[in-house]
Amino acid sequence: MKKLLFLLFIYSSCLAAEPSLARQTELQNLLKNDCGACHGLLLQGGLGSPLQPKDLAQKSDEFLIDTITNGRKGTAMPPWKPFMTQDEITWLVSLLRNPIK
Ligand code: HEC
Repeated sequence: MKKLLFLLFIYSSCLAAEPSLARQTELQNLLKNDCGACHGLLLQGGLGSPLQPKDLAQKSDEFLIDTITNGRKGTAMPPWKPFMTQDEITWLVSLLRNPIK
């Protein structure tokens, strides 16, 4: 029984896990290079809208996560679902809100 509880604990901690440190670095590079190609190197906007914390303050996590996951039809914003998990997208949104200085 103890063993089972332990396995459940490991399993549940994986479900809501933050990306590994290595993956976090990859995602930060992707944000700069890939997202930055449209949103501007400093995410101040370009072809894509600005993504600075102040620009996102009025928008909900659900809305932003949905935009990144599925893209926006009729605009250049592509869906990122094939390249990232939901946890990774959620982490990216929190990174956009609280950039690492
Ligand atoms: C090919 C260009 C392109 C790339 C690459 C791109 N975006 Fe976008 N993105 C856009 C455009 C254009 C919009 C605005 C869509 C609209 O007009 O509603 C947008 C909108 C968004 C929004 C919604 C902003 C808001 O204020 O509603 C978010 C969040 C976002 N992008 C995040 C990302 C992230 C994160 C990445 C990288 C993983 C990324 N984008 C890569 C073009 C791009």
